[in-house]
Amino acid sequence: AWTPGNIIAERLEQVRQSVGAEQVLLGLSGGVDSAVVAALLHKAIGAQLVCVFVDNGLLRLDEADQVMRTFARHMGVRVIRVDAERRFLERLHGVEDPEQKRKVIGNTFIDIFDDEASKLEGVKWLAQGTIYPDVIESAGARTGKARVIKSHHNVAGLPEQMNLKLLEPLRDLFKDEVRQIGIELGLPSEMVYRHPFPGPGLGVRILGEVTKAAADTLRQADQIFIEELRRADLYDQVSQAFAVYLPVRSVGVVGDNRQYEPVIALRAVETIDFMTARWAHLPYDFLDLVCRRIVNEVKGISRVVYDITGKPPGTIEWE
Ligand code: XMP
Repeated sequence: AWTPGNIIAERLEQVRQSVGAEQVLLGLSGGVDSAVVAALLHKAIGAQLVCVFVDNGLLRLDEADQVMRTFARHMGVRVIRVDAERRFLERLHGVEDPEQKRKVIGNTFIDIFDDEASKLEGVKWLAQGTIYPDVIESAGARTGKARVIKSHHNVAGLPEQMNLKLLEPLRDLFKDEVRQIGIELGLPSEMVYRHPFPGPGLGVRILGEVTKAAADTLRQADQIFIEELRRADLYDQVSQAFAVYLPVRSVGVVGDNRQYEPVIALRAVETIDFMTARWAHLPYDFLDLVCRRIVNEVKGISRVVYDITGKPPGTIEWE
């Protein structure tokens, strides 16, 4: 019978068989799939697992520290944290086109990951959080936005270059199965049931050029939205929710002062497969509360709008 316990036992055995006494490298992203691989491999081979976690400066509020807390501190996983905010922002300077931003972020990630990997001696395996839908998606041609699926985790070329063998222990599993395994392995449910987050992160939620100031502002607004969704028990009822930073400026009055500042858009959708989606009909009172908190608490924001576009025609992300 399919139970998370049985699957885990089977995978632990398979991993130990394949890997033997060799070392395994894993890129942690903060997402569910790589998190579950980390937990599984840690249980299977303990200190033979080395994780690299790249903080690209485009993560959600406190996300990097949370990843480190969960894996390094609580679980005792070996995690090398690379603070790469400056490198990402420098390479993104002046880049405005969404697909170009994706490319720059993906390439920078790969460069940094490669650098870290080549410093590690004795690693023979590269583990990846590939799951069954990724296998299918990469096989078929995709319409719509061109993107490398999981460009974030896909360290192209690295396995050959470093002579690494590929380890993909979740390759035949669906998302809900991966989540059940994560819970069974003791990962916090907040991590396991977190809304999806795009590989390029806030880089595609700050329209146009990405700056540190915009990222800091967006992180605060997004945090307020998510915090209130959780408080109102709405977080699990929507499939994905987030804030977007719009670099157009709008006039507002705060106290006696006229403001002329960027705008925050809120997006929340309900969907099964993320290929089509309906905008979430969040209660007006709830939206009112989130708007008030954002304009009161986030410096430089005096206008908040709610996105009521379905997919199609709108994509879920704004870029
Ligand atoms: P769209 O915007 O295409 O998004 O309706 C569908 C789902 O995919 C996520 N998404 C991405 N994930 N790299 C990723 O890893 C990307 O470049 C990317 N773009 C969109 C999006 O968050 C949504 O869940």
